[in-house]
Amino acid sequence: VITVELKASTGNSSIYVGESVENIAKYVDPGKTIILTDDIVMSLYGQSFADYPHIVIGHGEKNKTFNSLTYIYEKLFELGADRKSTLVAVGGGLVSDVAGFAASTFLRGIRFGYAATTLLAQVDASVGGKTGINFGGFKNMIGVFRQPEFVLCDLAKLSSLPETEYLSGLGEVVKHSFIKSRELFDYISANIDKILARDMAVLERLVHECVLIKSGVVMRDEKENGERRLLNFGHTIGHAVESVTGMAHGLAVSAGMVAAINISVAKGSLNEAQADEAIALLKKLGLYAEIQADPGKLKKALFMDKKREGSSIHFVLLDGIGEAHYRSVEVSELEGIIDDLCGNS
Ligand SMILES: NC(=O)c1ccc[n+]([C@@H]2O[C@H](COP(=O)([O-])OP(=O)(O)OC[C@H]3O[C@@H](n4cnc5c(N)ncnc54)[C@H](O)[C@@H]3O)[C@@H](O)[C@H]2O)c1
Repeated sequence: VITVELKASTGNSSIYVGESVENIAKYVDPGKTIILTDDIVMSLYGQSFADYPHIVIGHGEKNKTFNSLTYIYEKLFELGADRKSTLVAVGGGLVSDVAGFAASTFLRGIRFGYAATTLLAQVDASVGGKTGINFGGFKNMIGVFRQPEFVLCDLAKLSSLPETEYLSGLGEVVKHSFIKSRELFDYISANIDKILARDMAVLERLVHECVLIKSGVVMRDEKENGERRLLNFGHTIGHAVESVTGMAHGLAVSAGMVAAINISVAKGSLNEAQADEAIALLKKLGLYAEIQADPGKLKKALFMDKKREGSSIHFVLLDGIGEAHYRSVEVSELEGIIDDLCGNS
């Protein structure tokens, strides 16, 4: 087990890469612990936490709602949770985001931690203290920043992940390399077959590197006023594509990354050879996707981005592989780019 410490203003997290769900008792007072999970993780791994009282919500983004939150508060009451209780999410980013928010608000805040069972949760969602639910048709509109006390990244559980979920996580791994680490990019490029075969030693290295990168960024800019914006690389257009096409999150973000790479070339910050190299890696991993969406709807979705500030939005461009910057661009400028990307000019 490899440990990474994240220290921030809303709390400190100890992140354990390679620790298993079965060892939760090492990190909590077992008599004061309640598990939150979803129905799929419950049916696959419920026996791993059968000793704890648990709360089960439905799987999938449609359950990231106030209704789930109300249900969780009711169950916490029923189970006699108090200020000394710890809520532990076992599952992917959905249950960790909801558990973090529920725990941060129940009795004005109880302790919480995560046992992450998806690649996306291990390399991204469980690190950094963003918690919340969707609202009014938009993702993550209501929430708070608060760091989980601990995160267990259970690599063995990744073997049962459906392929599209695995690819979604890989997209975030590649994103971390694009914006911050040429070394990680080279490591991924040299280990494609092992990555696709979910080799545990390779996964340990990938998860560890991504946790180091993300926790470093979060420690320098927890509330996303600067450097943390870089983590949105590919996501501005990716989220719009996802909401318009219903495409799987990971592939939509990959389409967004391909678009952002092309825009980086058009703006002169990335050269063609670097762009080709980046896109070739996405292709080898089965992550290459182009935007196929109605440009009008895409533009509308872009304008609804919650990270928009007035008529502009922070857009992340690559300067090379492993280097990125963000700049404020007018949404109208992005609209023109969308027309180009969708082949309308
Ligand atoms: N807080 C953050 O910083 C942050 C960052 C990125 C994403 N997110 C959020 O994370 C969520 C997406 O996370 P996710 O991709 O983990 O999705 P998820 O939690 O919905 O999990 C995906 C699916 O995999 C199933 N699953 C989980 N573990 C499994 C396993 N080991 N084997 C088989 N199936 C398993 C789940 O039941 C679910 O059906 C979104 O709600 C997103 O907004 C948050």
